[in-house]
Amino acid sequence: MRHRTKNHSQEIVVVGSLNADLVVTTPRFPAPGQTVVGQHVRVFPGGKGANQACAAARLGASVSMIGRIGRDAHGQLLLRSLASAGANVEGVQRDPRVPTGVASILTNAAGENQIIIVPGANGVLRPHHLRPAHRLITSARVLLLQLEIPLAVTAAAAQFARRAGTLVVLDPAPARRLPDRLLACVDYLTPNETELAILTGCTSRRCSLREVERLARGLCRHGPKNVIVKLGGRGALLVSPDRTRHWPAFPVKAVDTTAAGDAFNGAFAWALAAGQSEAEAGRLAAAAAACSVTHAGAQPSMPSMLEVQRLLRRFARTSVGPRYQSLPEHLQLASSQFAR
Ligand code: RIB
Repeated sequence: MRHRTKNHSQEIVVVGSLNADLVVTTPRFPAPGQTVVGQHVRVFPGGKGANQACAAARLGASVSMIGRIGRDAHGQLLLRSLASAGANVEGVQRDPRVPTGVASILTNAAGENQIIIVPGANGVLRPHHLRPAHRLITSARVLLLQLEIPLAVTAAAAQFARRAGTLVVLDPAPARRLPDRLLACVDYLTPNETELAILTGCTSRRCSLREVERLARGLCRHGPKNVIVKLGGRGALLVSPDRTRHWPAFPVKAVDTTAAGDAFNGAFAWALAAGQSEAEAGRLAAAAAACSVTHAGAQPSMPSMLEVQRLLRRFARTSVGPRYQSLPEHLQLASSQFAR
């Protein structure tokens, strides 16, 4: 599937969060009440919104970031990071009364993470703050949204984009149940497996691909045109009311999986905005996510197009590569192939 194009000034607009990530690396996560000895503590530019803007900009898209930071050193760090990736930060408002959002992140030896966010300035963004961005959203090809800012702002942006014919990609993270009137504005809803469980009220910890497909298809009945479930090492599964598509993961050694989902969304939006087919967009997104987990930190791990192409070339001769050679046919798997 290829989406219709329109005249645009910025291809991608992101309305979302900006956080300073305070990252502690530890061999293992502490249990409640336990103390463990960590290895490093570092500060990285992060926030799901800013990470997705950074990912798309680093691949070469023209991207505008809309959000809110404090007038502090963390805010400066985020502006510098986004600007150096090539994103337009004119829509990032500075609030003198609240600090920039912070994420406290633990990463363990397996590259897994645990995250607590303190919204700060992200939490005081209001729908009327979007007014200066209306023209940008109208003319963009893709609007990227997440759930680290007040839901009223996300919903207002989605409704505005929907009326303007701008594609809406919503990353429902951190997950919460969402109203159908918001879901009805969404072209691509992109939960990971945990978020899919929360959105659908499912209680099992790990589902087979067939079960993921069933849950995602149920979610489509609430409004989104497509659901893409990001499954880490099992790849990503696109489900719409009448079809299913699977993109395998590229098997790389993960150093830090923080923001892999953001790399996926940013790259997917870049590819859609560039007029690539959905099949190509998912392949590129899976490759960008794989590149990102090989580096530490959120925004510092977002790959350039050169790095993504290198990874695609590296896997072209392996068992994953050929599955990507003849798109879209080889990715159009029958749902009977999903059972584990
Ligand atoms: O998706 C990863 C991001 O989640 C981190 O950068 C952190 O800021 C949290 O928002």
